[in-house]
Amino acid sequence: MASVTTPAARIPLIAGNWKLNLDHLQAIAFVQKLAWSLKDASVDFDGIDVAVFPPFTDIRSVQTLVGADKLPIQYGGQDVSQHDSGAYTGEISGAFLAALDCRYVLVGHSERRTLHGETDEIVGAKAAAAVKHGLVPVICVGETADDLEKHGPSAVPVAQLRTILAALPAGSDIVVAYEPVWAIGSGQAATPDQAQQVAAPLRAVIAEALGDDVAAATRILYGGSVKSGNIAGFLREADIDGALVGGASLDIDEFSSIVRFQKHVGV
Ligand code: 13P
Repeated sequence: MASVTTPAARIPLIAGNWKLNLDHLQAIAFVQKLAWSLKDASVDFDGIDVAVFPPFTDIRSVQTLVGADKLPIQYGGQDVSQHDSGAYTGEISGAFLAALDCRYVLVGHSERRTLHGETDEIVGAKAAAAVKHGLVPVICVGETADDLEKHGPSAVPVAQLRTILAALPAGSDIVVAYEPVWAIGSGQAATPDQAQQVAAPLRAVIAEALGDDVAAATRILYGGSVKSGNIAGFLREADIDGALVGGASLDIDEFSSIVRFQKHVGV
């Protein structure tokens, strides 16, 4: 049977980005059912991290549920302000997310970049704010179809990550998510080999910016049309340590099956 190549130091992370879906009541029901589903399947949480990224208004409810029932599910925000406090209408401080026991926060998702004009400099400032407040930024990078045609697969994500990491102190605890924009919500995932061809140079950028130890310990996720049917292929790659899942993270059976990717690895 083939085995995953993720080193023991890098526990795989399966993360669900809910985007603008599920209100706080739906979130409570969803997280409860997800926890039951994973428990029924006897998932070994020593070997995998499972995280959800609900809308901000859900996080207090998720915190209460996870805390009260000691559920083995981590969570985080979908965005964070680069500012700590002040006259920034609509923004959410990393301090507020940390106060709700968030472990992670997404920064630089392609939808934030495209719809809200976030540059690599802004994403770097957000990642730095996350680290400052004790959150682990899940730094999203990825090329558009146009970039892919003009510059090949890795040039744009590598340049994005280099700029973002320049804003972080050495030794920062981060996660990197490689999400090719053309694969997001398209049903057309990258191949595992394509993802690996980008993940390897991304790990080299982490080594350059934050040191070899951080590079060896940092999880690099693939995102873009991940499903239970294709997850195992990605996790077999040397530099892919998990997935950032959009649409399929809203279906409990499907997401639970993705978390149990080890079952599909030998297929
Ligand atoms: P899909 O899984 O729906 O393609 O979305 C990926 C994504 O954007 C996760 O952040």
